[in-house]
Amino acid sequence: MTDTAAPIERTLILVKPDGVRRGLVGEVVRRVEAKGYSLVAAELRTADDALLAAHYAEHLGKSFYQPLVDFMASGPVLAIVAEGQRVIEAFRLLAGATDPTVAAPGTIRGDLGRDWGVAVQQNLVHGSDSPESAAREIALWFPTL
Ligand code: RTP
Ligand code: MG
Repeated sequence: MTDTAAPIERTLILVKPDGVRRGLVGEVVRRVEAKGYSLVAAELRTADDALLAAHYAEHLGKSFYQPLVDFMASGPVLAIVAEGQRVIEAFRLLAGATDPTVAAPGTIRGDLGRDWGVAVQQNLVHGSDSPESAAREIALWFPTL
């Protein structure tokens, strides 16, 4: 909690290919809207290698990097920009922990995700983790915003 007015923020949300394939786009958008945030942009698209390399640059060199990029390119994602006070923090909490098996019930990953026995964690959604990440990611996915 802070005692000053919170500025309006924007965050990048991705419904990952597993979420799109399972027909969970509407459920994710419903939760974002039900929480009180507004959609600024939304586009269904299959990301190319250059976009994913830029998006996941912080993970380059990690063991899960290539499986992650291959998974993210395996089908369309719904890219969303959502807006509102503290939306960056709020969507991370709506999403839940990275590992869907242990993500708390009540969260998107905790309610809807599980371990499917594949190398990369298919955890349905991405959300920017800081104002700096949000600005960088929104510029990558929606350069005209
Ligand atoms: P995201 O960036 O997608 O919102 O997720 P996150 O912050 O919770 O997780 P992060 O550490 O940024 O990792 C990005 C994505 O890589 C996959 N991952 N797999 N096999 C693994 O141990 C592992 N670790 C991460 C997940 O899809 C994760 O969301
Ligand atoms: Mg992350």
